[in-house]
Amino acid sequence: MSYSALYRKFRPQTFDEVKGQDHIVTTLKNQIRNHRLGHAYLFCGTRGTGKTTVAKILAKAVNCEHPIDGEPCGECETCKSITEGSSLNVIEIDAASNNGVDNIREIKEQVQYSPATGKYKVYIIDEVHMLSIGAFNALLKTLEEPPKYVIFILATTEVHKIPITILSRCQRYDFHRITSNVIKKQLIDLTNQEKVEAEDKALEYIARMADGSMRDALSLLDQCIAFNLGKKLTYDATLDVLGTVDIQVYSELLDFIMAQDVAKVMDLIEDVASQGREWSQFITDFLWFLRNLLLVGQGTDAEEALEVSTEQMKFLQEKAKLIDEKLLIRDIRILSALLEKLRFATTKRVLVEVELIKLCKPEIEMKNTDLAEKVKSLEEQLNLVMLQLKKKEKTKEEKNTKKLPEQKSGQEEQIRKSIERLPEMIRYCLKRAELKFDEKEKATTFTFPEECILEKQYVIDHKELIEKSVHAQIIV
Ligand SMILES: Nc1ncnc2c1ncn2[C@@H]1O[C@H](COP(=O)(O)OP(=O)(O)OP(=O)(O)O)[C@@H](O)[C@H]1O
Ligand SMILES: [Mg+2]
Ligand SMILES: [Zn+2]
Repeated sequence: MSYSALYRKFRPQTFDEVKGQDHIVTTLKNQIRNHRLGHAYLFCGTRGTGKTTVAKILAKAVNCEHPIDGEPCGECETCKSITEGSSLNVIEIDAASNNGVDNIREIKEQVQYSPATGKYKVYIIDEVHMLSIGAFNALLKTLEEPPKYVIFILATTEVHKIPITILSRCQRYDFHRITSNVIKKQLIDLTNQEKVEAEDKALEYIARMADGSMRDALSLLDQCIAFNLGKKLTYDATLDVLGTVDIQVYSELLDFIMAQDVAKVMDLIEDVASQGREWSQFITDFLWFLRNLLLVGQGTDAEEALEVSTEQMKFLQEKAKLIDEKLLIRDIRILSALLEKLRFATTKRVLVEVELIKLCKPEIEMKNTDLAEKVKSLEEQLNLVMLQLKKKEKTKEEKNTKKLPEQKSGQEEQIRKSIERLPEMIRYCLKRAELKFDEKEKATTFTFPEECILEKQYVIDHKELIEKSVHAQIIV
C-alpha cells in the first residue's frame, strides 16, 4: 500500500471541512447560493492555510450537478473528476514555473472556448506573484471582462507583490493564520481517524510549532508518527523529534555569545542559513530557549510551563547555573526588538548578524549609542524595575485581598480565578501582563510589557479559549 502524506490525504472536500477561515467560506457559500459569483478572486495569506484547497472546492461547487446549500455534492461525475484532477473545466497553473507572457497568451486563447460539459471553466493561478510584469499586463484585459463562463482564482502568499491594477479587478480574500487551538482540534480529529493514540500535550505542542499553518502541522504530525510507528505519541517523544536538535544549536549559540566569539557565531549563522531555516522562526525559538533558561534559573514553579522533556529540563538546570540573569534579560530584550524588525526586513540575515554581534559585545551597544538611546535604555530598565515592583505589590495586594475580599473589583477577581483554571502555559503567559476589566464594555484588557512579545502572541493565539473561560471579550 502506498503511503500518502497526511496533508494530502486530508485535503478538505467541502467548505465546512475548511478550518479557521469561516469569514471566507461563508461568503463564498452565500455567493453560490444566490448566484452572485465574481469572475476574479484573489486568495492571499500565509502558506498552508487553505488557499488552493478552497479554490478547488469553489471550482467544484460552481460546476456540481447537485449542489447542496452552496456545497459541492462530491458524488456526481463532475465533482469526482475535479477531485481526481481529470476535469477539463478546472485548469491549474503554477505561476512559479509558467510566469511568462506566452503562458498567459495561451490561457487567453483557451478562454474563448466555452466548457464542453459543466457550467464554468475555472482557472486557478497559484503563486501568482511570480508572474512577470508583461504577463500581468497580458492578464489584465481578460481579468476585467472574461466570458461569463470563466472564473479566475489567483492565489498568493505575497500579496504586496501584486500590481494594483490586478488587485482592483479581483475580489480579495485574506486567509488568516490558523490559531493553534483550531489546529489542535483538527489534529485530535485526524489522529482519531488514523487510529493513532496521542497525548493531548503532544498535539498541542505540534499545533504551536506549526505557527498558523495547517499544512505544517500535518507534516510535523507525520514526522512524529513515522518516528514512533505503532506506539502512542507522547509529549516527550514529540519533543525528541521536533525539539532536541534546536536546543543544542541554541545552547551552542549562547555559549559563543557568552564567550564573545564573533567568528563562531558567524559560522553558526552560516550553518543555519545553509539549512534554509526561516530567520524569524530561528530567533523566536532562540528567544524561547533564553526565556526557559531565565525561568529555570529562578527556580520558580514554572517548570510545567516550559514545554521541555525531562532530559532537556536537566540540561537547562545545569546551564542556568552558569549564566548571569541580567545578561539573559538584556539578550531577550535585544532579540525581541530584532523579531519585530525582521517582520518587515528584506535583508533578514544581515539584521540577524548585526544583532547577534551586538549580543557578543555588550560594550558596543553602550559606547556607540548616542545620548537619546542611552536614555531610552535607562528608561526601559526603569520600566522593568517598576514592573517588577508593581508585580510584587500586586502579589502583596492579592494576598491582602484574600483577607479583605471586598477591596478588589468583584469581576476582576473572578477573572483571576478563572485564569487559574486555564492550562499552565496560558496561565504563565497571562501572568506577564497587566489585567484591567472594563465594566461597561464587558472586556478584559491585557497589557504586555514590550519584552513579552512571545507571551503576547501566545495569548493572541489562544484568545478564543481564554474568552470562553473568563466569559468576557479579551483585548491584548
Ligand atoms: N483551513 C484549513 N482547514 C483544514 N485543512 C487545511 C486548511 N488549510 C490547509 N489545510 C491542510 O493543508 C493542506 C495544504 O493546504 P493548501 O494547499 O490549501 O494551502 P495553501 O494555502 O494553498 O498553501 P500554499 O500557500 O503553500 O500554496 C491541505 O491539503 C489540508 O490538508
Ligand atoms: Mg497553494
Ligand atoms: Zn457534485
